Amino acid sequence: MATAPEGPRPSPLENLTTEERVFPPSPEFASSANLHEDAYAEAERDPLAFWAKQAERLTWSKKWETVLDWSNPPFAKWFVGGRLNVAYNCLDRHLEAGLGERVAFYFEGEPGDSRTITYAELTEAVCQAANTLAGLGVRAGDRVAIYMPMIPETVVAMLACARLGAPHTVVFGGFSSEALQARILDCDAHVVITADGGYRRGNATALKPAVDEALVDCPDVHSVLVVRRTGQDVGWTEGRDHWWHETVEQADIHHDPEAFDAEHPLYVMYTSGTTGKPKGILHTSGGYLVGCSYTHWGVFDLKADTDVFWTAADIGWVTGHSYIVYGPLSNAATSVLYEGTPDAPHRGRWWEIIDKYKVSILYCAPTAIRTFMKWGEDIPGRFDLGSLRVLGTVGEPINPEAYVWYRENIGHSRVPVVDTWWQTETGMQMISPLPGVTPAKPGAAMRALPGVFADVVDDEGRPVPKGSGGYLVLTEPWPAMLRTIWGDDKRYVETYWSRFPGLYFAGDGAKRDEDGDIWLLGRVDDVMNVSGHRLSTTEIESALVAHPKVAEAAVVGASDEVGGQGIVAFVILRADAGDGGPDVVQELREHVEHEIGKIARPRQIMIVPELPKTRSGKIMRRLLRDVAEQRPIGDVTTLADTTVMETIKANLAAGA
Ligand code: WTA
Repeated sequence: MATAPEGPRPSPLENLTTEERVFPPSPEFASSANLHEDAYAEAERDPLAFWAKQAERLTWSKKWETVLDWSNPPFAKWFVGGRLNVAYNCLDRHLEAGLGERVAFYFEGEPGDSRTITYAELTEAVCQAANTLAGLGVRAGDRVAIYMPMIPETVVAMLACARLGAPHTVVFGGFSSEALQARILDCDAHVVITADGGYRRGNATALKPAVDEALVDCPDVHSVLVVRRTGQDVGWTEGRDHWWHETVEQADIHHDPEAFDAEHPLYVMYTSGTTGKPKGILHTSGGYLVGCSYTHWGVFDLKADTDVFWTAADIGWVTGHSYIVYGPLSNAATSVLYEGTPDAPHRGRWWEIIDKYKVSILYCAPTAIRTFMKWGEDIPGRFDLGSLRVLGTVGEPINPEAYVWYRENIGHSRVPVVDTWWQTETGMQMISPLPGVTPAKPGAAMRALPGVFADVVDDEGRPVPKGSGGYLVLTEPWPAMLRTIWGDDKRYVETYWSRFPGLYFAGDGAKRDEDGDIWLLGRVDDVMNVSGHRLSTTEIESALVAHPKVAEAAVVGASDEVGGQGIVAFVILRADAGDGGPDVVQELREHVEHEIGKIARPRQIMIVPELPKTRSGKIMRRLLRDVAEQRPIGDVTTLADTTVMETIKANLAAGA
């Protein structure tokens, strides 16, 4: 067992569970891969020339003069002087290349309705929406808020905004009216696009009432476009509200796209901040699209004419923006768009969809994988998953056990799995194996992509030696980087560029292993200090999930008068573990001690039926900390299911 070193500053995350499995790419995969080992060296020799080459993937109406203007850091300008239209790059140019009949989306609604949408059809719909928005007075630079379920019209709405140069701000359909209102006001949107509702877990859930409620205090919103999805009754404000089918679907199908400056704002995406007001992350046009297009092609090894790609995430999350909308469409890919949850109407829904559309690339979050583990491998085992050839994960560190389960049960031990690290702020994937190049280690994001420069540093900003942990930083600007926080340059500089001068501070803990490969260890705010030792919540969660009775675990550091922080674990047992028996808590405590060391032994383990998660699948540890510290539960409005905390509390009370 490793222990924290002596001395005043023990290196973080010293007690890593040892994980030594390595899966190298197969020679067949490697021989036809889009990117090869030499891409790393090429990018290192001349990063800007490398990015200029990637920018050739797009069609520019005026070529840039300078690749990067970094004269006023940290405010970057990429492809200076270049002009392009983002929607044209995602649509019209594919029609010009004769790809109009290619499928852009196989849409699968939760109740079982489905639609196949070609590039030609998508282009027409986007032109109609652009004409309608223009008719409502939307001009380049105006912000438009989008509050929608996972339906094709959401993509149409985003691209129509992009076509007009009107930055969109997509707000999760799962967010409350307060959250929606705060975002509308912060970016001063005057138009909202929404739907009557959407389907979730077999029910029609309403969206329009939340818009109506939000707009009570948004006097500047003059128009609301409403898609009819569920057919439920909606309140109506005459003059302000317009049905999509009575406007957009009747509009002219022609619309000339105007070229905008490469640095023209494309969208604002609010991150579910832990405290304080949400941060509006600003992405601009040229560099962002270059980054999405390049990574979507390289990291997933996309063969656009044969692959069927599926990002099983919500469009209202940055993963949906970059890898449902902008990356795949700029690459003329064929994607699946699925409206609902993995267990509606049955727990094999994802695998049924993969089987039905012959999905070849699947991208999802570790939290989903752990849920599938909990449900058991016989469920995916009933479907033909033979079309899959690349698997990806994103959103949080993946426990080695979940990684291996995914590889074996979904990838049948032949499909490479890429663990991709990135953030709303980075806009594009940053650290990930390349499926044809990089040997993959379960739980490791491995290596910065060609053109991306990352490091792990200590408290003073010095690179740590191999085998040590520290903070993840990015050492060079990249094209899809956020440009600022909307309306708050100061907060942008303070949040990301002040912790270590000259370096982008990601807020994540990381470790370099003996080979120099990078392992992400969770947010640094999730790093606990237990009796002077720094421990990662992720490390302990991984140890718990490695136990055969455990499906999912979340660990928090709860204040402890003696040890600084005490480790409290919330555990969901696997279905076949029953209630785990009377001694399960003791057994799990000992297991963690055995896996990591006495120092990591949880002070308390609570067996719970569910964990509180945001719509993007992140566990809200803040709420668990409230339970652990026996405080009133804080704000739950950003939870995917706001009743979870009540269930957990009731469950604990019954068990006490
Ligand atoms: C975490 C999601 C470990 C990380 C695209 C980051 C990850 C935050 C990974 C950003 C990964 C994302 N391994 N951690 N592969 N991917 N994260 O903005 O803490 O919703 O800072 O963007 O998710 O979350 P965001």
